[in-house]
Amino acid sequence: MRKILALSIAIVIGMALFISCGGGGSKSAKLVGNAENGKDVYDRVCIACHMTGVAGAAALDNKERWEENAAMGMKALHLAVINGVPDGKYGVMAERGSCTDCSDQDLYDAIVYMLGEANVTAGE
Ligand code: HEC
Repeated sequence: MRKILALSIAIVIGMALFISCGGGGSKSAKLVGNAENGKDVYDRVCIACHMTGVAGAAALDNKERWEENAAMGMKALHLAVINGVPDGKYGVMAERGSCTDCSDQDLYDAIVYMLGEANVTAGE
C-alpha cells in the first residue's frame, strides 16, 4: 500500500514538472525541424529563387553561401526569413520569403531542408 502511495505521488510530481516545463507554448521554445514538410514549402515557394540563385538568393547547391548562412545559427536565420532581408549583402528577400500562408514552423522546416540539401549544418 505504501509503495502504491509513493508511486502515485511520484507520478503526480512528475506530471506537474512535465506540464510546467513543456506547457505554455512559450514563443522562444526551441523548434524541431521537419525536413519533409520543409521540402513541400521549398517546392511551393522558396524554389523560385533558391533553386538556381535568382536575384542574389543562395542556390540550393551553393555550399559556400549556405555555410555563410549557417554561421548565423538557426535562430537568426529563422528570424531573417520571418522578417525578410531588406538590405542583404547579396540581394533582398521579402518577409516570410514571400510566403504569406507559411507558419513560422513551415519557414523553419524549409530552412532545415535547404541546409540539408546543401549538406550544411547550423548551430542553434
Ligand atoms: C523572391 C526571391 C526569394 C524567395 C521566394 C525566397 N528567398 Fe530566401 N533569399 C532571397 C535572397 C535574395 C536572399 C539573400 C539576402 C542576402 O543578401 O543576405 C535570401 C536569403 C535567405 C536566407 C538567408 C538569410 C540571410 O540573412 O541572408 C534564408 C535562410 C532564406 N533566404 C530562406 C528562404 C525560405 C525558407 C524561403 C521560402 C519560404 C525563401 N528564402 C524564399 C530570395 C528569396
